[in-house]
Amino acid sequence: MTHSIVEDWLAALEARHLSALRVPEVARALRALSSAYVERRKTVVARGGALDSAGKRAAFALFYAPLHFLVTTHVVRALGADAPPPASVLDIGCGTGAGGAAWALAAGGVPVTGLDRHPWAVEEARCTYRHFGLRGHARQGDAARLPPLRPGGAVIAAYALNEMPDAVRRGLEDRLIDASRRGTRVLILEPIARGLTPWWEATAERVKAAGGRADEWRFTAALPPLVRVLDTAAGLDHRELTAKSLYCPGMGG
Ligand SMILES: C[S@@+](CC[C@H](N)C(=O)[O-])C[C@H]1O[C@@H](n2cnc3c(N)ncnc32)[C@H](O)[C@@H]1O
Repeated sequence: MTHSIVEDWLAALEARHLSALRVPEVARALRALSSAYVERRKTVVARGGALDSAGKRAAFALFYAPLHFLVTTHVVRALGADAPPPASVLDIGCGTGAGGAAWALAAGGVPVTGLDRHPWAVEEARCTYRHFGLRGHARQGDAARLPPLRPGGAVIAAYALNEMPDAVRRGLEDRLIDASRRGTRVLILEPIARGLTPWWEATAERVKAAGGRADEWRFTAALPPLVRVLDTAAGLDHRELTAKSLYCPGMGG
């Protein structure tokens, strides 16, 4: 089921992002994007450089977003974070909306709000929510200034904390842990690579002290055809999907 809804979503994304670009151009941009993420994260990504060309934006939308959707769906289900459904999902650093949409859909279609500092991401997240028929809205904003986090709701920050300056990330951790103690479910996802998240172990200890858990995930998923083509063309290998997560079930929620 997940596979076919991802395929339909990708078909819509292809129609939009491949109208002016060819697959080899997107694959080239994907190579540049993945090396920006892996090697030069602090300088390039923190300045918004990861999304600074049409090719990289297309690569993000057509490749990483579907992968993040698959991973989030898998993790949310494995953690039982989809049931009972949260009242709503807030997606911090929503990008194209993949993570929040995945959780909202896994929970049966609850409302979702996306927040991102990048205007392109906000527009893409709106398209994503519309595509999935979710009651959703997305707005431009910074993770340092969050809306109220309500008991019974859920918050996801997928692949976003590692882009934030330490002070912003730390402030966000405080808000999320405090909210989880008052009944908000909190899920943080990051790539498994340790170099990108030197703060992970310390944050995991704080989450566990607040009643949460830390996990690493490895699973195989049937990748949609275009994702497979881009994966091979860019010299990557996502036959096995991996991620690590921190999850607070929201005590009392
Ligand atoms: C790698 S993308 C992940 C997007 C999405 N969560 C996903 O799983 O596909 C990270 C996103 O975080 C956003 N971001 C980074 N720092 C932020 C901040 N301080 N406030 C809001 N958004 C931020 C970036 O603009 C980018 O869209």
